Amino acid sequence: MAGRIPDQFIDELLARTDLTDVVASRISLKKTGQNYSALCPFHNEKSPSFSLNPNKQFYYCFGCGAGGNAISFVMEHDHLDFVEAIEALAKDAGMEVPREQGAPDRYEQNAELLKRLSESSQFYQQQLTQHPDKKKATDYLSKDRGLSGQIAKVFGLGYAPPGWDNLLKKVGTRAESQEQLLLGGMLIEKKDQPGHYYDRFRDRIIFPIRDSRGRVIAFGGRAFGDEKPKYLNSPETPVFQKSQELYGLFEAKQNTPVLDQILVVEGYMDVIVLAQHGITNAVATLGTSVNSQHIRKLFKLVSKVVLCFDGDKAGRAAAIRGLEASLPVMQDEKQVRFLFLPEGEDPDSLVRKEGKEAFNHRLEDASSLSHVLFEHARNQVTLGDEEGEAQFARNAMEMIREIPKELTFRSVLIRQLSEQSGIDSETLSNTVFKARRQHISTESNETPQQGHTQPTQNYSDDLPDLSHYDYEPSHSNYDDYQYTDHAIPATQQKAQSSFKKPFGKKPFSKGKFYNDEPALPPAAPSLSQIKQATLCLLLHPHIAKEIDIPEPLINQASEELQVFCKIWRFFTKNPTKNTGNLLSEITDSFTLSSIYALLNHKDAITKQKITNAQQEVLDMILTLEKNLGLNSSIARLKNKGNESIKDINSQQELRNLMDLIRQKKS
Ligand code: UTP
Ligand code: MN
Repeated sequence: MAGRIPDQFIDELLARTDLTDVVASRISLKKTGQNYSALCPFHNEKSPSFSLNPNKQFYYCFGCGAGGNAISFVMEHDHLDFVEAIEALAKDAGMEVPREQGAPDRYEQNAELLKRLSESSQFYQQQLTQHPDKKKATDYLSKDRGLSGQIAKVFGLGYAPPGWDNLLKKVGTRAESQEQLLLGGMLIEKKDQPGHYYDRFRDRIIFPIRDSRGRVIAFGGRAFGDEKPKYLNSPETPVFQKSQELYGLFEAKQNTPVLDQILVVEGYMDVIVLAQHGITNAVATLGTSVNSQHIRKLFKLVSKVVLCFDGDKAGRAAAIRGLEASLPVMQDEKQVRFLFLPEGEDPDSLVRKEGKEAFNHRLEDASSLSHVLFEHARNQVTLGDEEGEAQFARNAMEMIREIPKELTFRSVLIRQLSEQSGIDSETLSNTVFKARRQHISTESNETPQQGHTQPTQNYSDDLPDLSHYDYEPSHSNYDDYQYTDHAIPATQQKAQSSFKKPFGKKPFSKGKFYNDEPALPPAAPSLSQIKQATLCLLLHPHIAKEIDIPEPLINQASEELQVFCKIWRFFTKNPTKNTGNLLSEITDSFTLSSIYALLNHKDAITKQKITNAQQEVLDMILTLEKNLGLNSSIARLKNKGNESIKDINSQQELRNLMDLIRQKKS
């Protein structure tokens, strides 16, 4: 199987290819100013609306909206797929297309290791029924924990008897198998005797951890009493990355007749006890908080995920991590909800106390994600009155912004926030929150497979491996998206991710620039009012002369508005010129790329057809004028600081302003 074409190669290819040559060899181009024009090859037309900018290496058709770079042109013109187009361009450029080696199958590569782990699991299960001291284990399971023999079997529970070499003697009979057991974290090398090993799991109840296909990849071992650690877990190994796996997922898939919802709990025992009570769709994280990868994995299987937390403070904090982990991987039609248990209870204790029905009722009443989000935003507020309202809106928007832009769910939340805060959706969407929460940016430096390349480094002693219990910060960041290849070391992955280019990751959508094209400011799926107005102006230049921009607006113009003003000025000065002329005459690259991004936006097609373009632009100006009045007053009041805001007049003024904002909304 051919591997992936490296992103760097695609960059290099694009750098060496001249779009002008590519297009000129296929259709006839005419030089117009700095640009070229042509009859568009992608739709029928009599006068040329296809324009090519050789400096930017982009083409765009004002008639049909087709646009892109050399790759998309060849794809569309020659009817090739992405790889074929690259191959065609590479051939012309005299370059050979390199391929990354296909990622070796983790399981094929580790077949021996998996075999030893499976043997280990069988060994521990046998001990539960055969060991002379088995009663200690079976009593613990049945009497102390109330488990049936049947459920113990379903989950493959076992017993690691006391002693240093039970497993070693049974499964690690040869040097090769010892090596594998060491690699899999089942054995530990003696410090003072290199090459000599002892069992990691001793005198514990054993919980085999299976991957979603049922292969045993690791173990958890519970102490019988209060010994520390309560649970000892396998370290990270070539087949086990705790932040990736969910305990009980395989069993949930096997034993749940219709799996449309999954409940995420904290502990092994919770999963098992719930299953014994007929709630077979629970899984547990492995001592880490739930992260984005978990949610994504679950969304592949089910549309509804319920995250379950203790009712205490730690549980609330964990829920927020769950919330943050969910936001970037949300999808329309999918749902994450939150179940908070009464303080002091876990699912295990609760389902035993209340039974299945009551627990299911709790599940039905679980809080929605939006509820938890808004509540959290509210709880973070430190100021009173209107300032608190603003803080609330800001907190909420910070989280909402983590949701993929294209989701309806995101717009729904913004609308809800608008209703709650009295600030209109437009303003909410357009406010730029520069300071992203600190912990998110530090988390982005984390890679899930840390230490993975040297799996033996932690094995030198048998101190409680508490790191497996520490709650990790959630991986609620973009790096999650790139994590696919287990074979690539963390550092290298990091480097790769910085090369990430749109090409090669996703197929080009036909006739469109790719939204993430790095040379352009990202074209947001939903445009701000200013951008929409700018687009109207670009597509209907004749309205420029009907429009007047008030001086104060020009003076305080944001970057967005500056682009608008520049275009407006161009068309007012040159009433006979069109957007093609504008593109060839404008030299400022920011404006130029902003214009390209807009023209390439999906809304361009709709805006092209509208009849009230002028009204839209006027509305935008009106909104800005109103805002200008409001914002400057609010800013003035805020500058007075929190002290003086206590004076009655200022308070009243601020209140009036807030009312105004509210009125504007309705
Ligand atoms: P809890 O301490 O809440 O355990 O840890 P629990 O599931 O209620 O266990 P029981 O009922 O006392 O047996 C929840 C999870 O955290 C991890 C395990 O995955 C456990 O299931 N953990 C806990 C550890 O890895 N190590 C520990 O020492 C404790
Ligand atoms: Mn418990």
